[in-house]
This record gives sequence, structure tokens and C-alpha cells, in this order.
Amino acid sequence: MKKLLVTGISGFLGWHIAYHLQSDFEIIGVYNKTKPEMKNIHLQQLDLTNQAAVSIFLEKNKFDAVLHLAANSNPNDCQRDPLSGIINVEVTKYLAQYCAVQNIAFLFTSTDLVFDGENAPYSVSESLNPIMVYGKQKLKAEQYVLKVFPEAIIARMPLMYGLPKNGFGFMSAWLRDLQEGKNIYCFTDEYRTATSGGDAAQGIFALLKNETSGVFHLGGPERMSRFDFSTKMALHFGLDENLIIPSLQKDVKMLAKRPADVSLVSNKAFTYGFSPKKLEDNLKKLSSSF
Ligand SMILES: NC(=O)c1ccc[n+]([C@@H]2O[C@H](COP(=O)([O-])OP(=O)(O)OC[C@H]3O[C@@H](n4cnc5c(N)ncnc54)[C@H](OP(=O)(O)O)[C@@H]3O)[C@@H](O)[C@H]2O)c1
Repeated sequence: MKKLLVTGISGFLGWHIAYHLQSDFEIIGVYNKTKPEMKNIHLQQLDLTNQAAVSIFLEKNKFDAVLHLAANSNPNDCQRDPLSGIINVEVTKYLAQYCAVQNIAFLFTSTDLVFDGENAPYSVSESLNPIMVYGKQKLKAEQYVLKVFPEAIIARMPLMYGLPKNGFGFMSAWLRDLQEGKNIYCFTDEYRTATSGGDAAQGIFALLKNETSGVFHLGGPERMSRFDFSTKMALHFGLDENLIIPSLQKDVKMLAKRPADVSLVSNKAFTYGFSPKKLEDNLKKLSSSF
């Protein structure tokens, strides 16, 4: 079994990684503020911005691979708070540098928001032009990782959906509101190739097991607006779709600007075994265990 460090285990994707844990890996999962409830992995509290503590931790545990998910993944927070660059850029730099020196496999999760949304769909070779601080931070981290450790893997994640037990993610929030009879406002002009958290975890394990390197997109098989997503979701969960109000992203002022269409072309990852399912199939499964 490979000893795998997973940062950000208490987040949305971390929960799915732990839930879909594959027998080839033993996971040591790092959280900071929120201790997750997980039985199948070893948990460790660690503030990754404390470089001295991270250094001691890495030396103590000899890892075979590092999966770096931890981030401030809220674009508005990043826009407001320049200190978000410490976890999003500096910590990534430090971990990549450590893995390069020790020759340990390193996978960093970046984002579809490194694109400006003007020329979708995007393959991995398309030009990068983030339009908000979060996207700029992720791009800076990507560039550093590739410079110091070309053997590393960069997985650009799309919008992810799912119902992790920690309640994270936009889908849990939407379902809660619809169940309480509240309106939700969903954009008809914002397109993504969303992937389920479970499929994203499957893709990440496939990349790690292939011992590959370079940049990959882990987008889902369908391009869809948030409005189309939410109406399909309501149908599968037996909720009132009339509560969903179509709205336009271009009319809403957000602290961090969002690109209209950052749909991803993920063919390269498909050849390494990433096999995301269609939304309908995932919704059927998620609603049956809801
Ligand atoms: N979710 C999406 O739709 C999406 C889309 C594109 C890209 N991504 C990328 O995918 C990755 C995972 O995203 P996610 O949605 O799972 O994120 P998330 O739910 O926001 O979770 C963030 C994680 O980072 C940890 N963290 C933050 N600061 C830390 C620190 N100083 N020390 C240690 N841990 C720290 C948090 O730990 P505590 O909560 O315990 O403090 C939490 O486990 C991120 O790199 C994100 O940029 C996500």
C-alpha cells in the first residue's frame, strides 16, 4: 500500500476521496479547523501555513505521494483577503518543492477558473487568463509546481456536485432551500462541465495510479447551465421546480467576477481511465440514497 498524504480532507473533495478510498492507498488526511468524522483513514490536525510544523510532520511520516487539495476555494474570500495567497500559493509552492527534492509523487488540484470564459470549451493547451484573484492564485501555483517539479500532476477541477456527509457544496444548499419551500436563483448564462465528487475522486486515483505527469482536466461529460442543472436536480429529488428562478449572471454584481463559460475538454484524462458519468445517472444514484 502506498502511504498517501491528503491535505484538505475535511473539505468537499476530501470527503469524496476518503469515501472512495482505494485499497492501494493508506491515507493520512490533514484538516485544520474542522475535524471530519471518518473511520477508514488516519487524521491529523495541522495548519499548513505553519511551515515549521509542516516540515516536522513531513519528516516524521515518509509519504509515497501527496494529494494537495487544501485551499481557500471561495473566490469572493480570495478577492477580499490577500492572505488567501498563503494557502493557495505559498503552501502549494512549499509542498511541491519538498516533493521535488524527495522525489515523491505530487498531485495539485487547480481549477477551471484559470480560463477567462471567452473561448470555451478549453483543452489543456488553451491559453490561460484568470479574471479573479482566486484564479490568478491557482495559476501562479500551477506555474511554480510545473517549474520546480515537471513530474507533478496538475488536475484542473470543474464545478463539483454531490452530497457529502459534511454538507459541503452548492447542491446540499440548493436542496435544503427547495425542501424548505424557498426560491433558488440559478443562472441560465453560466456554463460548466460539472463533475460529481465521486467521479472526481475516481479520476484523481486513476491519475495517481498511472504515475503520469502534467496538466489534466477532470470535467464532466456534459456542458450545462446552472439553471438546467438545478431543474434536473429538482425533478430527480421530487422537489418543486417552480421554486427555481432563472437569472442572468451578467446582471448580478459579485465581488469576484465569474467567467460565463469555462467548459473543459477532458479527453486527455479519459485516456488515463477517468470516466465521469452523465448527470442523470449520478442524480439517480444520489437521490436514491438521500
Ligand atoms: N469544489 C469545487 O467545485 C472546486 C472547483 C474547482 C477547483 N476546486 C479545487 O479543488 C480543491 C478541493 O476543493 P474543495 O471544494 O474540497 O475545498 P473546500 O471544501 O473549500 O475545503 C478546503 C479544505 O482546505 C483546508 N484548509 C484550508 N486552509 C488550511 C490550512 N491553513 N491548513 C490546513 N488545511 C487548510 C480546509 O480545512 P478545514 O476546513 O479543516 O480548515 C478544507 O479541508 C481545492 O484545491 C479547490 O481549489 C474545487
